[in-house]
Amino acid sequence: MYKLAPSLLAADFKNLERDISCVERAGAHYLHLDVMDGVFVNNISFGVPVIKSIRGCTGLPFDVHLMITDPIRYIEAFAEAGADIINVHAEACSDLKAAFNKIKSFGKKTAVTLKPDTDLQTIYDALPDADMVLLMSVEPGFGGQKLMPHTLKKAEKLANYIATNGYKTDIEMDGGIYLSNAREVISAGVNVIVAGSSVFGAEDIERAVRDFYAVFNG
Ligand code: DX5
Ligand code: ZN
Repeated sequence: MYKLAPSLLAADFKNLERDISCVERAGAHYLHLDVMDGVFVNNISFGVPVIKSIRGCTGLPFDVHLMITDPIRYIEAFAEAGADIINVHAEACSDLKAAFNKIKSFGKKTAVTLKPDTDLQTIYDALPDADMVLLMSVEPGFGGQKLMPHTLKKAEKLANYIATNGYKTDIEMDGGIYLSNAREVISAGVNVIVAGSSVFGAEDIERAVRDFYAVFNG
């Protein structure tokens, strides 16, 4: 099943509740939340207090993408703030297994994220414990960039590896996904699509979500 995870980074920050209810009403599966620390990436976004406060205005599962150094330090805080899926970057994590164990100890879903040029080999050992792999299709840090085509090949390779090994891991892709390339992305084996600008930047947010599902089902 294909799932859309609208990325709040592109929402109107003075109207978060309004924008979140639009994507929820339109049937999005997750809300993707980009946490940036200004160290792992060159940007700072939002963190625990914002996530905690929007937890009160939606039932959507929170897919938290931690673009932070040494994320294990903050897993408990994000779990308590209301995260449902916790994505840690392989490049930022010295011990992926320990991070996953910590995520699981709070009853949350595990996910590992790879930058566009990080090799898939990095995560093969961790795959049996990962509920999801998030493949970045742009360099993390900013919304509104263009999808890097080589990441589609990477998704295909990962999808084959997962199928060959009989794993059930979801594959999520993040960055530069629009209605115009969504079909190409799912054809590469991705089943969870992150969309920031193309959803929250749209004139009609609800319609943008429905249009994505029309592509998934078409
Ligand atoms: C980038 C973030 C993305 C971003 C995607 O570092 O991880 O989730 O919000 O934005 P778009 O869809 O605009 O590329
Ligand atoms: Zn993201």
